[in-house]
Amino acid sequence: MKVFQHVTDIGDLRTALAEAAEVKRDRYQWQHLGRNKTALLIFFNNSLRTRLSTQKAAMNLGMNVIVLDVNQGAWKLETERGVIMDGDKSEHLLEAIPVMGSYCDIIGVRSFARFESRQDDYEEKILNQFIKYSGRPVFFMESATVHPLQAFADLITIEEHKQTTRPKVVMTWAPHPRALPQAVPNSFAEWMLAADVDFVITHPEGYELDSQFVKGARVEYDQMKAFEGADFIYAKNWSCPGVTRPEDYGKVLHDYHTMMDWCVSARQMAVTNDAAFLHCLPVRRNMIVTDDVIESPRSLVIPEAANREISAQVVLKRMLEAL
Ligand code: CP
Repeated sequence: MKVFQHVTDIGDLRTALAEAAEVKRDRYQWQHLGRNKTALLIFFNNSLRTRLSTQKAAMNLGMNVIVLDVNQGAWKLETERGVIMDGDKSEHLLEAIPVMGSYCDIIGVRSFARFESRQDDYEEKILNQFIKYSGRPVFFMESATVHPLQAFADLITIEEHKQTTRPKVVMTWAPHPRALPQAVPNSFAEWMLAADVDFVITHPEGYELDSQFVKGARVEYDQMKAFEGADFIYAKNWSCPGVTRPEDYGKVLHDYHTMMDWCVSARQMAVTNDAAFLHCLPVRRNMIVTDDVIESPRSLVIPEAANREISAQVVLKRMLEAL
């Protein structure tokens, strides 16, 4: 595997899930693969889970790990070609990327949507430069449009906890005071549509996700109706993807105080099939989900986060095997 971005990069999902289960049984059995190999993890944005779980996964495989927080101690990077660099940015990404590539064998990059241009974000301008100029396999640790390590961990969690062969999985929009990217819901939709689940998306009108990720998905604008009989509830906020009105890209369309009915509470969970609750974390309590739901025995947010180590290890293992 040279790039890990989309669900198609992992190949057959049954095989990937079986490999994840094998990793979980004994995560230290491939230490020989990573001997004298270095993973470089580059963060343009904050992280708790991705940073720790990916480092742990690389160490499980016997790799050396370097973590770079671009905004803490590195030169400020220019990302646009053609700019006269007379401002505060001392180095261009076009030099920095091959330099970083020269110090490692595999690169992971986190670079969120900037919300300056829908086109730049959806073309994955930053990550594609790493793919083009680093000379190394690149895995996405949440980009402008996707978060595949999260979606793979979500799928592993659903597989481990499902009680029917084809569970009903509902992804619901929930309120948030700030504009958040669409990477998590895009990837979750992409992976659920490829998996053997009955997938439904519910959100207020105006938050339609890009068709490249949700083509074929059932959208139900009535949240209560969507929740009926659900086996898994996956909550997430996202800002306007700008599908119908490009000028609204990255905006919060309504004052969140008027949208608090969408916060996942016992009221909605009561119409589900005793659904398990999932969220990628970090989560704002009593905005996205109430205290009682996230603290209930049906909340899987901690095992879901723990599975980030497993999804990262499967991806790194495959990249090491292909070096
Ligand atoms: N879910 C997730 O990616 O968490 P972090 O932002 O803390 O890495």
